[in-house]
Amino acid sequence: VTVYVPRDSAALAAGADEVAAALQAACAARGQPLHLVRNGSRGMLWLEPLVEVATPHGRVAYGPVAPEDVSELLAAQLLAGGFAPDGSVVAHPLRHGVTEQMPYLALQERLTFRRVGVTDPLSLDDYAAHEGWVGLRRALTLDTAALLHEVTHSGLRGRGGAAFPAGIKWKTVAHAQAAQKYIVCNADEGDSGTFADRMVMEGDPYGLIEGMAIAGLTVGATQGYVYIRSEYPEAVDVMQQAIARATAAGFLGDSVLGSGRAFHLQVRKAAGAYVCGEETAMLESLEGKRGIVRAKPPLPALQGLFGQPTVIHNVLTLAAVPTILARGAQFYRDYGVGRSHGTLPFQLAGNIRQGGLVEKAFGLTLRELIYGFGGGTRSGRPVKAVQVGGPLGAYVPESQWDVPLDYEAYAAMGAVLGHGGIVVHDDTADLAALARYAFEFCALESCGKCTPCRIGSTRGVEVVDRITANQGEVKAQQVVLLRELCDTMLSASLCAMGGMTPYPVLSALNHYPQDFGLAAPAAA
Ligand code: NAI
Ligand code: SF4
Repeated sequence: VTVYVPRDSAALAAGADEVAAALQAACAARGQPLHLVRNGSRGMLWLEPLVEVATPHGRVAYGPVAPEDVSELLAAQLLAGGFAPDGSVVAHPLRHGVTEQMPYLALQERLTFRRVGVTDPLSLDDYAAHEGWVGLRRALTLDTAALLHEVTHSGLRGRGGAAFPAGIKWKTVAHAQAAQKYIVCNADEGDSGTFADRMVMEGDPYGLIEGMAIAGLTVGATQGYVYIRSEYPEAVDVMQQAIARATAAGFLGDSVLGSGRAFHLQVRKAAGAYVCGEETAMLESLEGKRGIVRAKPPLPALQGLFGQPTVIHNVLTLAAVPTILARGAQFYRDYGVGRSHGTLPFQLAGNIRQGGLVEKAFGLTLRELIYGFGGGTRSGRPVKAVQVGGPLGAYVPESQWDVPLDYEAYAAMGAVLGHGGIVVHDDTADLAALARYAFEFCALESCGKCTPCRIGSTRGVEVVDRITANQGEVKAQQVVLLRELCDTMLSASLCAMGGMTPYPVLSALNHYPQDFGLAAPAAA
């Protein structure tokens, strides 16, 4: 009997190792053979540890399973997926039926995540059996122009948050003249409430490796680095093992699949600074220096790692590439709306009943995400504000929950989709305190290179404090000062850290003035 117990960090945090050990011990005591697969997570995090059992009807899910549930579950036909010998279902409060038919999964459009939670992450056979290396093999039959056309035509844009067209970035690097070029994967996933990069690395590492190899072959880069935050030890471990196995099997190395073309890959551990997720600070860190933001230009595409042309992408961008090559650019392009093509893996977090990973084509709404998938707040209280796009993203009020989630629609309302992080707050949230926190966070994480961010963030904390502590004329003056400070930070900061801190601050002020003790909605 094949049973799946995830080894994803979220499942491990919920006790997956203990459940796996309890299962093994119980089966050994019964003399029952057990084939235990440690898969990635399906992304239904409120059900972790989610135990799945392979049956002729498909995989059947149980969760959240605790070690002490195991003997009772075995009595309830766990190893048969809850099917009695006569075919009837043995009901159990933890049994959710066939995994793929659970609405949370069935309603998704998983492209980047199609293997995550399904396969054994480190099994090359499993990867190959699930469309693995199809994109890479096709890439080896295409010339640079054809490859650039595929990526450009797919409409893929940077999933780290800035949504820059990947095709243009690849073209810039491909056409740059240099003896050495690099592919760098930014896996310093620092946004609050985000975990999609981690889930890909832990659940489908070969998908990321394949995407990086295709990028390398396209632009003529022979070396790649995956820069992984040190807070992700499981991801570091899985990626290192996967790179070693892929290299030994000839998918990486001096001659990728016998083509005579080289692509090598290495993991680099980050050192725990949010700003090192900014691409140029990350390059400094990769070069062994302190993570300080570089001025742009020159663009990393022309002078990046060690001064050489470098493609830098977030995990999700690179992990989308194998699907594009395997199924064709048009297939990917047909998902989404407007200029936002393909899918985005949204991450539901904060005060939410069903937190987890939801990959959908662009164009659904926040309301569908937080109520349809998320089931509302975990506290059961009304949702008050939703921060979209990480700690530098805007707080989106209910009046905007029906706006389609696409890059342009969000930009038009002064918000960002960012890396797809969604953090839900109920009606006990104090948006003035959250605005203050945005400045505090910026002050803590600022690299200190430019004045608006280094000094503005600390002044911002003080101004918010004066707004909440005062009334009348003083309060009104401080609101004006806050807006001026935000204007300065927006337009004069060197990078997104200082440049986007005004997003949460201004959205809080504009949409929740009452939390600042302001009676009427503040003028925008
Ligand atoms: P950006 O707009 O400056 O650049 C986006 C990307 O396009 C960069 O890689 C840049 O080098 C490249 N690029 C721009 N013009 C180019 C050209 N002509 N040719 C080739 N390449 C070109 O944005 P930035 O500062 O890199 O990122 C800001 C975003 O980061 C924000 O939107 C925010 O959502 C996101 N972010 C993500 C976090 C995460 O944890 N994933 C954390 C914090 C912010
Ligand atoms: Fe550094 Fe902040 Fe300036 Fe970015 S905005 S360069 S983090 S000081």
